[in-house]
Amino acid sequence: MTKYESTKQTLMKAPEKWLITGAAGFIGSNLLEALLKLNQTVTGLDNFSTGYQHNLDQVEKAVTPKQWSNFTFIKGDIRDPETCSRACENQDYVLHEAALGSVPRSVENPALTNANNITGHLNMLIAARDADVKRFVYAASSSTYGDHPGLPKKEDEIGRPLSPYAVTKYVNELYADVFARTYGLKSTGLRYFNVFGRRQDPNGAYAAVIPLWFASLITGNTIYINGDGETSRDFCYIDNCVQANILAATADGNDDCGVYNVAFGERTTLNELFQLIRERVGRKHPQVMGVQPEYRDFRPGDVRHSLADISKARQSIGYEPQFSVTRGLDMAAAWYMERGL
Ligand SMILES: NC(=O)c1ccc[n+]([C@@H]2O[C@H](COP(=O)([O-])OP(=O)(O)OC[C@H]3O[C@@H](n4cnc5c(N)ncnc54)[C@H](O)[C@@H]3O)[C@@H](O)[C@H]2O)c1
Repeated sequence: MTKYESTKQTLMKAPEKWLITGAAGFIGSNLLEALLKLNQTVTGLDNFSTGYQHNLDQVEKAVTPKQWSNFTFIKGDIRDPETCSRACENQDYVLHEAALGSVPRSVENPALTNANNITGHLNMLIAARDADVKRFVYAASSSTYGDHPGLPKKEDEIGRPLSPYAVTKYVNELYADVFARTYGLKSTGLRYFNVFGRRQDPNGAYAAVIPLWFASLITGNTIYINGDGETSRDFCYIDNCVQANILAATADGNDDCGVYNVAFGERTTLNELFQLIRERVGRKHPQVMGVQPEYRDFRPGDVRHSLADISKARQSIGYEPQFSVTRGLDMAAAWYMERGL
């Protein structure tokens, strides 16, 4: 039996109390669904800045009425310290996902990204420390590797941040590390590498590439590739990310309160990704097989290549990603096409 399977069995037998910030967002709502299905007691905190009530409604439909009754929602903002304190009260674990994502958004409005991602994170650390939670797991980011040329990316080899967003995610790690050493708050940062899957938002100026391309192909809009298409990413299906959160939160005490890469451990170029998505949409809409992308300038702040070494998470918390990019894209395709997006 895998570590993940045995951890889930243990949680089912002895349910715990969890706080998820950003619970109405993409990753947060998937964590919520997974934990409720394990009969856990969950509080969600979100201000709906980039999250949606419809994500929570979908989780309600995916779980039993009894499991849904274990959920409490707080509409609130992590920039407010009192809200953070109230949300952390009596929790065993905190999964801190709330932040403003997107490199381009941070280039356009660095102050707003800073307030949500750094002040909000600090408020959450203080609240988690004061509530004496068992562990604080937070969403870090592969953007922290910045301009370091090394591949695959190893946790302790980072470069200079390439965007305001990357600065905020690196500062999150620095604060968590100081809180561990100064106050003994156990924490784990999960450096996500391009997570994708159900409920990732295909709309808006800052949509991520996979939902955007599914939606564009399905609705007949132009697909743009920034740069020559040879930019590569380690795309990580959402269920791998959920696994990493559950394992990190419940890990035995003698880890380094550090950070782990969360990815699948394979590199896909944007040109390859386009073909993989077109092929999947084409199974239902054969007319898209003739669609070609339009190439335009590289985007400022974007990292050229990204590939994770996931051996640290494997060894330390027993992380074994179960979904390859192609399998994840199959699942995502089914989800987006069912909704006609
Ligand atoms: N999706 C990825 O590929 C990826 C990669 C690296 C890191 N991350 C990080 O993972 C986390 C979750 O990302 P996501 O993709 O689910 O994004 P998302 O935008 O879908 O979710 C973020 C949620 O946080 C909420 N939120 C934002 N600011 C808030 C505030 N001040 N108070 C309360 N709630 C607030 C939003 O309303 C939203 O529901 C973020 O911290 C993001 O930086 C994501």
